[in-house]
Amino acid sequence: MRKKIIAGNWKMNYTLSQAEDFVNEISKQINVDDVDVVLCPNFVCLDRINELISDSNVKLGAQNVYFEEKGAYTGETSIDMLISTGVTYCIVGHSERRQYFNETDEIVNQKAKKIIEKDLTAIVCVGETLEQRNKNEMFEVIENQLINGLKDISKEQMKRNIVIAYEPIWAIGTGVTATASQAEEMCQFIRNVIAKLFDENTAEVVRIQYGGSVKPSNAKEILNMPNIDGALVGGASLTNDFVAIVNYD
Ligand code: 13P
Repeated sequence: MRKKIIAGNWKMNYTLSQAEDFVNEISKQINVDDVDVVLCPNFVCLDRINELISDSNVKLGAQNVYFEEKGAYTGETSIDMLISTGVTYCIVGHSERRQYFNETDEIVNQKAKKIIEKDLTAIVCVGETLEQRNKNEMFEVIENQLINGLKDISKEQMKRNIVIAYEPIWAIGTGVTATASQAEEMCQFIRNVIAKLFDENTAEVVRIQYGGSVKPSNAKEILNMPNIDGALVGGASLTNDFVAIVNYD
């Protein structure tokens, strides 16, 4: 039985004081054992949020990392820097990073491998555009993102250190959610691809999240799908809605 994982991707929102106020408000209401809950604030807030959640079972995640160990990479943040603030999860390959910051599958792969090397969990995002879906290319697109993004990762690492997030780009921040059956169809496809690339047992163990306009009104239906093991929540993770999503059951 795969444990559900619900992560809040705050994207580029909240100053330090806003983040403190928000976490103080929600953290007492998030008290679940049967779901892994991860907050992914911006880098500036990581250290402080780590302190605020230290006596809860909420985990800390980052939204990005650079794959080099350290050195002359102005503006970048290393995995050891993230670890020093208490981070245990890191999102890689979000479509916004692919779109605005030219992240390729190869870069996603390098970042995922760096996260694995330090025994953290990488939340590897995949997703198709509306145009690709309309042309019925979505399965091919997702399969290629998985093949290239998960290159040179072992079965053991897949099971221990990887979560996949299926985020159709057309559903992100648009209010348009994939229907539960569209989301399930793709998450099942992703599991089949993992079985092909690794093996059946690995595919049974790896958790696959859905992301894209998840809100309290649709969370239950989506999260009850057999191949959907959690949610990666954007806009709704910035409000009390996140508490309702985490308590979806
Ligand atoms: P929304 O929930 O705002 O659609 O964003 C989804 C997302 O991109 C999470 O990473």
